[in-house]
Parts: sequence; C-alpha cells; structure tokens
Amino acid sequence: MITNTELEYKGNLYPSKIVSFDQNVDSVYFYTDNNVILKVTVLRDSLIRFRYTTKGYFSTDFSYAIDDNHTHGYNFLEVVDKTESYQIITSKLKCVIQKSDLRVCIYDLQDNVLLEDELGFHWEESYEFGGNIVKMSKVSKDGESFYGLGDKATQMNLKGKRVENFATDQYAYQKDQEPLYKVVPFYIGLQNNQSYGIFFDNTFRTFFDFCYERRNVSSFWSEGGEMNYYFIYGPQMQEVVTRYTDLTGKPELPPMWALGYHQCKWSYYPEKNVKEITAKFRALKIPCDAIYLDIDYMEGFRCFTWNKNYFPDPKRMVSELSDNGFKTIVIIDPGIKIDTDYFVYKEALEKDFFCKRADGPYMKGKVWPGECNFPDYTNPEVREWWAGLFKELISEIGVKGVWNDMNEPAVMEVPNKTFPMDVRHDYDGNPCSHRKAHNIYGMQMARATYQGVKKYTYPKRPFIITRSAYSGTQRYSSSWTGDNVATWEHLWLANIQVQRLSISGMGFTGSDIGGFAEQPSGELYARWIQLGVFHPFCRTHSSGDHGNQEPWAFDVEVLDITRKFINLRYQLLPYLYTMFWQYIEEGIPMLKPLVYYDQEDIQTHYRNDEFIFGNQILVCPILEPNSSGRRMYLPRGSWYNYWTNERVSGGREMWVDTKFDEIPLFVKAGTILPKYPVQQYVEELEFDVLTLEVYYKEGIEKSVVYEDAQDGYDYKKGRYSFLTFQVIGRDNEVIIQLHKEGKFETNYTHYEIKLIGLPFEISTIAINNEKDSYDKVSYKKEGFLKVAKEFHVVHITGV
Ligand code: GLC
Repeated sequence: MITNTELEYKGNLYPSKIVSFDQNVDSVYFYTDNNVILKVTVLRDSLIRFRYTTKGYFSTDFSYAIDDNHTHGYNFLEVVDKTESYQIITSKLKCVIQKSDLRVCIYDLQDNVLLEDELGFHWEESYEFGGNIVKMSKVSKDGESFYGLGDKATQMNLKGKRVENFATDQYAYQKDQEPLYKVVPFYIGLQNNQSYGIFFDNTFRTFFDFCYERRNVSSFWSEGGEMNYYFIYGPQMQEVVTRYTDLTGKPELPPMWALGYHQCKWSYYPEKNVKEITAKFRALKIPCDAIYLDIDYMEGFRCFTWNKNYFPDPKRMVSELSDNGFKTIVIIDPGIKIDTDYFVYKEALEKDFFCKRADGPYMKGKVWPGECNFPDYTNPEVREWWAGLFKELISEIGVKGVWNDMNEPAVMEVPNKTFPMDVRHDYDGNPCSHRKAHNIYGMQMARATYQGVKKYTYPKRPFIITRSAYSGTQRYSSSWTGDNVATWEHLWLANIQVQRLSISGMGFTGSDIGGFAEQPSGELYARWIQLGVFHPFCRTHSSGDHGNQEPWAFDVEVLDITRKFINLRYQLLPYLYTMFWQYIEEGIPMLKPLVYYDQEDIQTHYRNDEFIFGNQILVCPILEPNSSGRRMYLPRGSWYNYWTNERVSGGREMWVDTKFDEIPLFVKAGTILPKYPVQQYVEELEFDVLTLEVYYKEGIEKSVVYEDAQDGYDYKKGRYSFLTFQVIGRDNEVIIQLHKEGKFETNYTHYEIKLIGLPFEISTIAINNEKDSYDKVSYKKEGFLKVAKEFHVVHITGV
C-alpha cells in the first residue's frame, strides 16, 4: 500500500556512505555503497539542483516544467574534499554533503544554515508499482514560515499544514480541502530574514508537510518518480520567486483586451440571449471586453461543433459582437464524444490518438457528452493535430480566446473522479502510466490549445485559460481557481488563492467573481467585484442554476458599485499592463502578498488579506458583511488613502473607515499613477491625453509605464515605449523627470499631471527648465498641468 505520511511506514531505506565522487563541468556525482547516486548541478550561483537515484544509474532527464530558455550559468564553482564531507561552493552558497550518510546542508557564505537535511533523502520500495516512494525531510527552525504551492485554499502561511498535489475536479471545494485543480510543487521558506525556495519537479502525486507531522521538520515526498528538486536561494523572497519563474517560464504579453472585464455564465444561449447581455453592458455603460460561451454552444457537447438551433450563424454573430467591442471566448474540454459520425472522434480514432488502458482498450469515461475517449496530449503529434482543430473556430469564425476546462482530467461517476492509474501516456517519448502523467495532462492540453490558438490568431496575440495546471503552465495560459461558492469564506479564499498563485509563477489568474455555485447577495457580489478588479484575470462566472449574476442582477446600488470599480480597472489599464510587462520580462509577480513586499517586517508573515497590486497600490478587500470599515495592516512606508488623499504612515495595524462603495486602497507616496479615460472596451477610444497622478513624497521615487500597440508582436521589434518617471520631492519643491525608451508612438500628445499631497503653495512652474513657462493660475483653475508628452522635466517650487 502507498503510504501518505512520510514517516508512517517503517520500511524506509537510506543512503549509506559515499564511496566515490566525480565532477563533470557543472555537475558533481556522489556514489554510495548501496547504489545511491546524488547528482548536484549548479545552474546558477544561487540555484542548485539535487537529483537522486537508488538504481545506480539515472533515467532520461525530462521535464515539462522547466523552460528551455531559463537562465543558466554561474560565476564560481569549487568542490572541496574535506575529511567528513564534500563542499560545493559557489559565489552565493556553500553546500556540504556528509560522507557518512549523504545528508546535505546548505549555507550562505557567512556560514548561516539556510536548509539542512533532517533524515534527508530516504525511500520506500513500491512493490505494487515498482520504483520507489521518494522522500525528503529537512530541519525546520522555530519561526520559519512557508508560502507558495499554487492554488491551496488555506491561510497564506502554510506553517502547520500538510498539502497534497493531485489535480482534482473539486466542485464547491471548502476551506482547507485538498487536493485542488492545480499542481505547483514549489514553496518558499522564510527564516531569520532569509528566503529560499524548493521546487520538487516530480509529476506523481506529491505531498508537502510543513511542521504538521513533526514540529521541527518540513518534508516532501512522492508516490513515484525521482527525488529531484531545485534549491533556490534568495535571500529576498523577490529573488526566489523571480528565479523560480525564470526556471519554469513566463507567458507572452496578452492582448490588452484580455486585461479588461470578462462576463461568463454556464451558459449564455441562444444567440439572442448573448446579444441581450452584451447590449445591456453597453446600455448601462459597464465596460466589458469578453463574452464567454460555455458548453451549451456545442452540438451535444461535441468540441469544435456548434448547436445550429441556438447559433445558426456563429461567424456573423461573432463578427457582430466584435463590432460592438466584444471578443468571443469558447470552452473546449478534453473529452471527445464516442460517436462514429463525429469528425473529431473519427480523426482521433483513425490516427490512434486516444489514451489507452494498460491492456489495450481505449480509456473510456463519462463527461458532459456522455461516454468519451480522451486525446493523449502528452504525445507531440496529438498536440499538433489538436492545434489544427482550432483553424475554423479562430480563422473562420473569429473566436478570440479558448477556455480549457475539465482537464484534471475530470471523469464523472467514478470514485477517483479521474482516469484509472493504469492508463498509458506517451509523455513525449517517455511512455508511462497515468500515475506519472496525471498532473501534467491539463497542462499539455493547454499547451496544445495555445499552439493552435496562437497559430490562427497570429499576427494578433492568443488568449487561453485553463483550470488544471502544473508548474510552467503560465508559459501557455492564464487560469482561474475553479468551482468556488458564493460565500464570504470563498471571497476570503479567492483573495489568498490568487495571491498565492501569483508568487507561485502563475500570475495571470482570478476567481469566478461572485462565486460559481449558489447565489451571492448583492452585497457579497459588490465586495467580490471590488476585489476582482484587482486580480490580473477579472471575470464574473456562475453555474447558472440559480439566479443571474450579471452586474444588473442585483440592485442599483450594486450596479453603480460594479460600474465604479470596473471603470477604475479600465482607468488603471496602463498600470496593469505595465505590471504584466514586468512579470513577463523579469518574472515579478503582479500581486504581492505583504510578506513578499516586506519580509523583514515580521508583522507581515501571517497576513492574509492585504496585498500590493503592481508595485505601488495597496489593496485590502472587505471580507465581511455589514462592514463600515476594517482593521488592516499598512506596510512600512508612507501611503495616501486613495479615496481621501490623506497621508498615513505604515508599519502599523489600524482601522480604516470605508463606505459600501469603497474598499481600503492606498497609494505609495512618490507614485506616478498613469490613467486612461474610461472606455467601454479596450481600444474603443482614441484619446489625446494620459493622466498622471503624482503623489508627493520627500525623497525620490520611480514609476514606470510600458506601452505598445496593445496587441500583435511589433513590440518584439522594439515598437514599445517605456517611460520612467522620477519624482524628487523636497520641502518647497517637486521635480518630475521623464526618461523614454523605445520606438512606439502613442496616440496621445499630452499628459495631464495632477499633484496630490503637495505640502506647499505653488509659486512657479517650469517646464524643461524654462523659467515660469507655465501659468500657475491656469493650473489652479484646471486642477492639472497639461504638458506635451516630450517633456524632460517639470519643476515646481513653492512657498
Ligand atoms: C466546470 C467548470 C465551470 C463550467 C462548467 C460547465 O464546472 O469549472 O467553470 O462552467 O464546468 O462547463
């Protein structure tokens, strides 16, 4: 039997003493006298991979998670042979391997222990399946905290928790329920102001235990495969996350419309209903960029078909929606209906592309269409074929995005909710059972979908969203947190899940706003949209088996709040787009939990609710009914209340009053916040000014704005503009400098600069060092400075 606790089983085996070692460039091999080999590879001075085998040789090295383009290369590497240990030294780390038992301890160069093996690597032979249950245990010191691991529905700090990674269709999951839809076996440890990361790149069912089983031990183990993990050094959490994201990859820039508001329901049909919904958005002036078609658009749930009763002419409808600024996104599931008259089924059958059971028959399971077979997306030929199936949807009909669902893979009416474990997969030429391929099935489906949508959307940018994912899926797709529930607790969970995914490499995520199952009250919906507009992916979705969940389904007050917050999101699009750029360029998460923002401040280590949106806006959702405000923690530094412009200093807990149409929002002093005018959809308007809200601070602060054509690939040829604004504030003056890079010319010609929090009365305003070049009376009258976008410096003095 497979144990699911690390220590329960008494038959653990351990490496014995090291008998030899050798080095091959960046890799050092240690051989024990019971056939264990440890291969230590230095990928970067701060990134070390540990791979163990108990067979005396290593199997083929293959990973779906690791990005081919990850940064690789170190400055310094030395291996020292000491009496009792070997030491591997880089310019950042020292890794000591005990000769007596192969245990590892990693230090920084000041000899502080960063992470030390407790039992270290050990294993249990798996008689039933062959191979091993591979295990690792580490010493955990008091005060250590743990973060990461993707979509876990629990508190931010995982200390005291055990989690399980096995992609599962978990309808209406509850707090602390395990496992969920995604598998991101990556965590961050923080102790003594030092952060490190562990990425356990093993696709079998894995477990992580953070001082749950034993107080001073953290451990991780897997029901098969190799003990194969990466140690990522910080010491800042920021560095751990950007290095992990570099290793597992970044997405490409989405079209800007994908950052707009999306509306979804299971399901909008027929065409008349879709048109009513979209028309109402425009009539009520609630911005919206995307409308979703859930499974009922298909003919009997057959992927790549249309129900012609509901949608007689999809091409015309999609084009009419597009004329009105709506992009159509359709769902595509993995289950292919067994039906010999159905072209997708016939093709896959002819080509032998469906997954098979160990003894030969096709894997058969029930999903929405009834009995289905399932393509083996781990076969590159299948992915190629699948990609080709999108030609008609995208090129002919004009669909702009694809939604992959049920790809855990979900199977109905069976106890384990998925494939039997004997199902075979190609695994890109490394044939294996479903035990190994289960956790990456959804990822490979999303990858194949991405290939197809990208190919036919080109020269525009693709948009894909997936429910299941493994580490690295961010390269292909955005994601959402699955079938949540319309409860206050789920609002709390959504906030944490999206932050957690953000620091787990998967930045482009959101939750079903309002909750998927059950009916939210107007108040809950309003509080959810107030949070949702600050999530990178912003979509209302509901199961449709209760009341409606469009913004107008509640009362006028809720409608007005919804409009107000979606408007704010559309105003902040240049800010949001810039944070996306920083994510794809540098791997910087778009949402930053407080501990990520300021790990030195131990007050942040157990915070769940507050987060930084981008780099400069602090968001704190209201998570309880009937609130007239809430207690919250304001991180260190100086902040402005967004609603009142009142300045407050952080580093403390405080009470913030809010009205129903507000949540606590604070802008960091020194910020220059770029804003577009409100548009009903991206690219609706051509406007000639960009608003810049300047929040005064004494000292220096930089803000950046990335802009390009908002779609297409010209930015890759340098057609983008990257603006760096620097604010220098003193007692009686403020200087705003602008530095521009890149070749993109925006349509607007001017900035409207609004000055917030100036501690003095303005006496002079000079543009580009020309004395008194700006009339301060007109500034007073207008409330902003109108400055040509080519300016270098604005200098304001005061008395
Ligand atoms: C699953 C999805 C949900 C979708 C439904 C019907 O429950 O998670 O988002 O609406 O299937 O396709």
